[in-house]
This record gives sequence, C-alpha cells and structure tokens, in this order.
Amino acid sequence: MIKSLLFSASAAAASLTYQQRLAITPDNGVNVAFNSKGNNTMYTPRVVYGSDSNNLDKEASGDSSMYQTSLSTTHKVPIRGLDPDTQYFYATCIDKDGDCSLSDTLSFKSAVSPGCTHEFKFAVLGDMGVMGPLGLSTEAPSSVEDYARLDEGERSTMKALIDNKDKYQFIIHNGDHAYADDAGKEITAGYIKDIPDESLLQQMSETYETILETYFNQTSQFARSTPYLVGPGNHEQLLTEGKEYTDPETNEPVLIDDIPQGQRNFTFYKDRFFMPSSESGGFGNFWWSVEAGPVKYIQINTETDLGNGIAPVDDKQDPEQQDLAAPNAQIDWLEEQLKQVNRDVTPWVIVGGHRPWYGSLPDCDGCKDAFEPLLTKYGVDLVMHGHIHLYERLAPINNGTADANELNNPAAPWYIVNGAAGHYDGLDGMPDEVSPLSRQIIQGVFGYDEITIHNRTHLTHSFITSKNDTLIDSQTLYKAH
Ligand SMILES: [Fe+2]
Repeated sequence: MIKSLLFSASAAAASLTYQQRLAITPDNGVNVAFNSKGNNTMYTPRVVYGSDSNNLDKEASGDSSMYQTSLSTTHKVPIRGLDPDTQYFYATCIDKDGDCSLSDTLSFKSAVSPGCTHEFKFAVLGDMGVMGPLGLSTEAPSSVEDYARLDEGERSTMKALIDNKDKYQFIIHNGDHAYADDAGKEITAGYIKDIPDESLLQQMSETYETILETYFNQTSQFARSTPYLVGPGNHEQLLTEGKEYTDPETNEPVLIDDIPQGQRNFTFYKDRFFMPSSESGGFGNFWWSVEAGPVKYIQINTETDLGNGIAPVDDKQDPEQQDLAAPNAQIDWLEEQLKQVNRDVTPWVIVGGHRPWYGSLPDCDGCKDAFEPLLTKYGVDLVMHGHIHLYERLAPINNGTADANELNNPAAPWYIVNGAAGHYDGLDGMPDEVSPLSRQIIQGVFGYDEITIHNRTHLTHSFITSKNDTLIDSQTLYKAH
C-alpha cells in the first residue's frame, strides 16, 4: 500500500463510490468497476484488498471515464495475481489529492482454476431491465399484458439473483441490460411520472440516465460479490431503440440525429462494464472469453461485426451504426479461441450470444451464417441465447437438423433460448407456430438458467423461476469428452 496516501473509513451514506461490479479475467484476476456521482474523471480510482477483512494490505489503481450524458463517473481497476478459489475482501475509493474515502468492505471469491473438476454452477440470464417504478413492477399500464408484469408480492429476477448469488461461480447476462431505451415508451404511456417539463427528447434523455443509475445500483447488489459477466444486446445501442416518437407539445418527431452521442452507439455499455476482453484478445465489452473450472465460456456479439460482409439484423435502429472493430476481427478471434481450447483442461465449451438463430422466434439469420459453422466444427457443447422473452429448450442442432442422439452424446451444439428475466413489458406471447427443433417452451414465467457442470461428461441445464426458485425444466447433457 502507498503509505503516503490516506485511506479513510467512511460511513456508508457518505461513501463516494458505489455500484461495485466484478468480472473474472483469464489470468487469476478480477476486473473491478464502480461509479461515483458527477464528474470525477480527474481522480485516480483505487481498490484495497486482501484475504483478511481486517487487513486490506494490497492495493490496485486504474482509470476513470465519463460519457457525455452520464450522471456519474465510471472507475475501472484491474486486480491480478489472486489465489484461486479464495475469499477476498475489498473496498473502493477515488483518490482526491491524497485522500481516499473507502466504501464499505465488500467480499468475493476468486475463480476456481481452469481444470478443477469439482461440481460447478453458474447462472445465465437474458433481457433484464430495472425493477420498480422505472421498469418492471405490478403497475404497468393496461397496454402491457398481464403475464408481462409482476404479480402482487412476486419476486423479480433481480431479487432472485441477489438472494441466490452465493450459489454461483458467476452470473452471465447475455444481452439487453436495463432497458433504459424503454424511457420513451414508458413516458408516452404515462407510466413514468414526475418528469421535467421539457421536450420529449430531453425527458427521454434524462430518464435514460436515471434508469441506468438505478439499474447499476440494483445489479451491484449481486455483482459486487458474484462476478457479473455480460454480452451486448440490441437495447444497449440507442436511446429510441429505433422507435419513432412525436413530441406531443410541438408535434415534431424525435430524430436520431438529435440524440446526444452519449445515448448512441452502445455508449453506456462500452463505458460502464469492464469485461475481460483485452485479457482474452477480444474487443471492448463485446467479445471475450474466460476459463474457470471445467468450462471455457465465450461471449459473442450478435449486434454488429458479423464478419465476411454479413449484415447484422436491420431493426431500424441507428442507420449509421458501424462495425465496432476491424473487418472479420470478431470471427477470426472466435475461430482462434475455439482452436486453442484444451479440452483436457476445459472439456466444456459454452458460447453465449444475444440473438437466437434457432427456435420458434429466430431473429438473426446472419448470425447463423456467421457463427454456426465454427461452433459446429469445433464441437461447442452448448449455445445460450436471449432476446426472445420466453424460455425455449431446443435440440442439439447442425445446420437446421436435430442431432439424432439428442442429449446422449450429440456431435452438434445444444441450443437454449431464454430472455425471460423481465423488464417493463418484457415477456412475449406464445408463438403461433412452435419450431420442430423445440423440445420445451414455457411462456409467461420470469426466470433464468442455471448450469451445473457435474464432471467432464455430464452437464445439467435448468430453467429456474424467479418467484420461488422452482426448477421447472431440467435436462442433463452427456458428452463423451
Ligand atoms: Fe434483445
């Protein structure tokens, strides 16, 4: 620890830093992100940590950033060289000219080493918004279907993850975070009240940032102690989500060109998260991988950068949205990642990406063209998608055909679609036609996935209901690794 620096304990209410969230990295590390109100980009963020809660004898520092419309500064501090599977304690602060007022002491368990084969559980969710008066609640207007709102007293997925966080090695959120881009929908529906008397665009823009602050306050309640690994979805891109709004006062449309830069081009998603991308050769928070215990998990980006000239889905979001990295950067990285897997160390290879290309409501033909050949060629075991706001367990599939072995040592990847975590109006109706590749479909239930890796050969996937932890669909995959 730098002795000249004054680390001072602070009452929780006076603490300057909050929204702590962790991500594991492939090199026995943890990336710590947290925020502070207002513009503190001039200050260096620090984390003090150690394995004894009374002696936080190590220190790391990092960088601060703030995007144009944000209400807070994001601080990112990498911690490296941790012992595996070990309880650590930590506190965060920003160094204001030698005075670092510490947050409460928090704790986490470092990742188990790759190759460790004792039973291993993690959670996967998709499509989760803020809970309460800015998002999912019992009180949505009548335009929202009954099955897409919480029942009186029903526990949300957010609360379920907070309650269950200690069960999981990490929690993966496979795209669509916060639904701040629902701000316009919620304002025009009269759901969000107490909005300033400003233009619709200003109301939307301010509400967008308020929703984000609330969301990161809420997710921090699990993410500050259980690593929270995220991928991008369509709701991270743009304030209006491509919807057309008209200001009721002026009758003027809200134009994409008038949206501030801070609310376009995935800006909050780039700024606030701190995924292990540089540590895994990936890109931003968009594609990255980690290895822990018997699993290698690879996150892909289905929104942009499909490679080989394949166009992403045109859902009328920002027409000027560009690829984020060099041509073919993602697809070349993905192939390299898959080639490099040592199945002796991590027999299980799991890939997550937001938009599904299989299921009863597929929404990314380009993703299928871009990604499926590689996932099949390299024997990926399980592919997890979100985006569709229901639960659907599919067969193992190769190029549109179910693997005849089903879950008994299939050659093809097994596909699960689950975007049922919940947001303002976030559950879909039952599709008119169910895909012949579907093996179970559950509509109208808020929930998330639990993956249990028993050993080298057996993996159980379960759909867990958020309201009461009931496991309503559970199947075990056998692979002769
Ligand atoms: Fe989505």
